[in-house]
Amino acid sequence: MGSCKASYSVLLLYFFIGFCFVHQCFAIGAETNQSAQLLVDASEALSQKIPETLFGIFFEEINHAGAGGIWAELVSNRGFEAGGPNTPSNIDPWSIIGDESSLIVSTERSSCFERNKVALRMEVLCDSEGTSICPAGGVGIYNPGFWGMNIEQGKTYKVVLYVRSLESIDVSVSLTDSNGSQTLATANIIAAASDVSDWTKAEVLLEAKASNPNSRLQLTTTRKGVIWFDQVSAMPLDTYMGHGFHNGLVEMLADLKPRFVRFPGGCFVEGEWLRNAFRWKETIGSWEERPGHFGDVWKYWTDDGLGYFEFLQLAEDLGAFPIWVFNNGISHNDQVSTSSILPFIQEALDGIEFARGDRDSKWGSIRAAMGHPEPFDLRYVAIGNEDCGKHYYRGNYLRFYDAIKRAYPDIQIISNCDGSSHQLDHPADFYDFHIYTSANNMFSMAHRFDHTSRNGPKAFVSEYAVTGKDAGAGSLLAALAEAGFLIGLERNSDVVEMASYAPLFVNANDKRWNPDAIVFNSSQLYGTPSYWMQQFFRESSGATLLNSTLQMNSSTSIIASAITWQNAEDNRDYLRIKIVNFGSNTVNLKISVAGLESNSIQLSGSTKTVLTSSNVMDENSFKEPKKVVPIKSLFENAGEDMDVVLSPRSFTSFDMLIDSDNLRIAGTDSLYKSSI
Ligand SMILES: *[C@@H]1O[C@H](CO)[C@@H](O)[C@H](O)[C@H]1NC(C)=O
Ligand SMILES: *[C@@H]1O[C@H](CO)[C@@H](O)[C@H](O)[C@H]1NC(C)=O
Ligand SMILES: *[C@@H]1O[C@H](CO)[C@@H](O)[C@H](O)[C@H]1NC(C)=O
Ligand SMILES: *[C@@H]1O[C@H](CO)[C@@H](O)[C@H](O)[C@H]1NC(C)=O
Ligand SMILES: *[C@@H]1O[C@H](CO)[C@@H](O)[C@H](O)[C@H]1NC(C)=O
Repeated sequence: MGSCKASYSVLLLYFFIGFCFVHQCFAIGAETNQSAQLLVDASEALSQKIPETLFGIFFEEINHAGAGGIWAELVSNRGFEAGGPNTPSNIDPWSIIGDESSLIVSTERSSCFERNKVALRMEVLCDSEGTSICPAGGVGIYNPGFWGMNIEQGKTYKVVLYVRSLESIDVSVSLTDSNGSQTLATANIIAAASDVSDWTKAEVLLEAKASNPNSRLQLTTTRKGVIWFDQVSAMPLDTYMGHGFHNGLVEMLADLKPRFVRFPGGCFVEGEWLRNAFRWKETIGSWEERPGHFGDVWKYWTDDGLGYFEFLQLAEDLGAFPIWVFNNGISHNDQVSTSSILPFIQEALDGIEFARGDRDSKWGSIRAAMGHPEPFDLRYVAIGNEDCGKHYYRGNYLRFYDAIKRAYPDIQIISNCDGSSHQLDHPADFYDFHIYTSANNMFSMAHRFDHTSRNGPKAFVSEYAVTGKDAGAGSLLAALAEAGFLIGLERNSDVVEMASYAPLFVNANDKRWNPDAIVFNSSQLYGTPSYWMQQFFRESSGATLLNSTLQMNSSTSIIASAITWQNAEDNRDYLRIKIVNFGSNTVNLKISVAGLESNSIQLSGSTKTVLTSSNVMDENSFKEPKKVVPIKSLFENAGEDMDVVLSPRSFTSFDMLIDSDNLRIAGTDSLYKSSI
C-alpha cells in the first residue's frame, strides 16, 4: 500500500429536499360502544423503575439499509471489487461512456491497496485531435450509485479517487443527471505524467448548481492514453454529526431516542456460508483498505464503509449503548466445531478490545488512530444470531462466555436460546427473543412474559414485528398490535429489559423483507405506522411504571399502562397513560388516578396523542408519507377522574403535567440519559 501518495485538491459546487406533509382528520363511525375502567395507582409502593435500556433499535444490513442507506457514500462498488478479489471483477453498477472503438475497460490486480488489489484500467483510443476524435463530452465511466445519487443544489460533495497514468491526464469529474446530459457540478484533474506515474490520491470538492435525485458520477476524458482508477468515493460534506451518516435517515432514528443499537444483524452476522459473514476486522481502518464483502443472505455487495467502528460511532451519536452481535462460528449452512472455535473467540475478544480497550492496547490503538481515543461504551455482546438450535451452539457459546467473562467480567452476554418458558441450561445475562407473527397473535403476546420466571437472565426482545397479510406494507393494524405487545413488555419490564423492532430500514429499490419501519429511496423517506408507534414509547426507558388495572368485559380488546417520567427539556414531570383499543368498537373509558396528592394533575400542558386512521389497513407511502401518524391535541379533561373516548382501532397517549412536589419517583436514579 506504500505506493499510494497524497492528494491534491480542486474545488467546485451545488443543492436541498422538501417534504410536504399533510395532517389529516378522520371521522370514525362506530355502531356499538363498550365501557371500561382504568384504575391507576401512583403510590410508590406499587411502582417500579423501568430499565434505562428498555427501548432501542436493531440495525441490520438488509434491504440496503446501510450501503445505499444510512451510510452517505454515493458510489456503489467504489473499489471495483464487487466480483471478489480475482479478475475480471464485477464492476457493476459502473458503466461505460463511449463505445469499443473509443475505449477499452478492464480490471487488473494492480492496485496499491494490498487488501483489495483490483483496479480499473481504462485505455482511451480516441483523442482531442487527429484521426479519431473523442465525442464532445469525452469517454470514460460512470457510477449511478444506489439507484441514483441524490444531488442537491448548493451542497458540496467530496470526491476522492486514486489514479495512475504513464502520460499526462485531464480527467473531468462530474455529477450529472441520469443520462449525462445535464451537468450539476464538474472539475478537472489535470496532472503531468510525473505526478501520476505512481498511484496518486486526488480530491475534488463539487458544489452542485442544480438538484437531481437520480444523478450519477462521471469520470471522463478526451485525451488518448491509459488511466488506472481505484477506490472512487463521493460523499456529501454535510452528514450527521460529520460522521458520514445520512442526515435524514439518522434523524428518524434520533427521534426514537433509542437507548441501544443492536448491530450489524441478524442473519447478516451469520451468512449463508461462514466465508461471507461479517468480519469486523475487514471493516475497520481507512476506507480505501477495506476489502468489502458480499452479504450472501440478503444478496448484495457492501464496500463496508459502514463498518464496526462506524456502528459504534452511530450508537454513541444517538446516545445509545452499542450491542454488538458477533459470529460464533455458525452460519446458515456451515459450522465450526467447538474444538476448533478458538480463532473465533480471539476475534471476539479483539473486537471488544477495539471498542473499549485503552489507546495503548493493540486494537484500542487502531480505534484511537481512527479518531476515537476514548473507549466506546460497549457493555453488551450477543453470541450469534438465532443459532440456539444449531449443533455446536451450546458448546461454542460456553467457550465464548467463559473467555469473555474472564477478560471482561462486566460485559453482559446475550444467549440465542429462549429462556422465557423454561430455564436456560447455560449461564447468560440475557436471552434473545424474536417474534414475527399475525396482528391478533402479536396483540395477545402482550401477556407472553406475565408468567416468566422472575429469576435468571432477562429477556431481550431484539426482533419483533407483525408480518404477513395483516402487515400490508406497513399497516396501522400491525402498529396497533405491536403497541399492545410493547405495553405488555412495559408491564413486564422487571423481566424484559430491552426491545427493538425489525427490520428498521428498507431501500424501496431492494426490498428483501416486508414490512420495515422506515422506507426510503435516494431522495425520499417516510416512517410506517410501526415507526410512529415506537415514538409513543421513547420516554418509557428509565421511567417509573405505575400500577394500573383495567376493568372491562371480556369482549373489550384494550390494554393500557401508566408511567411517570421527567422531561429533560423542561425538567417537569409527566404522567403518561397509553391505551391501545385493538377492537372495532368505541370504548368509553373512565380513568381514575389514585396515589397523587389532590390537584397535582395540571390542566395546562396536558395533551392527547392518537395514532389511528379511517381504515385499519391504511399505510403511509412516498405519496402520502403522513397519512397515518400521531395527531396531538390538547387534553381538556385531565384530572384525577377522567372520562375519555377511545376510537376503534386506535392507540392513544394521555400526557398530563404533574406538580412535581406531588410525585414520588420510585428509586432515586433520576439520571436521565438524554440523547438529543
Ligand atoms: C358512543 O360514544 C360516543 C362518544 O362518547 C358517543 O358520541 C356515541 O353517541 C355513542 N354511541 C352509542 C351508540 O352509544
Ligand atoms: C436525459 O434525461 C433527461 C431527464 O433527466 C431527459 O429530459 C432527456 O431527454 C434525456 N436525454 C437523452 C439524450 O436521453
Ligand atoms: C423515489 O420514489 C418515488 C415514489 O415511488 C419516485 O417517484 C421517485 O422517482 C423515486 N426516486 C428515485 C430517485 O428513484
Ligand atoms: C396493582 O395493585 C393491586 C392492588 O394492590 C394488585 O392487586 C395488583 O396485582 C397490582 N397490579 C400489578 C400489575 O402490579
Ligand atoms: C359489561 O357488559 C354489561 C352488559 O352489556 C354492562 O352492563 C357492563 O357495564 C359492562 N361492563 C363494563 C366494565 O364495560
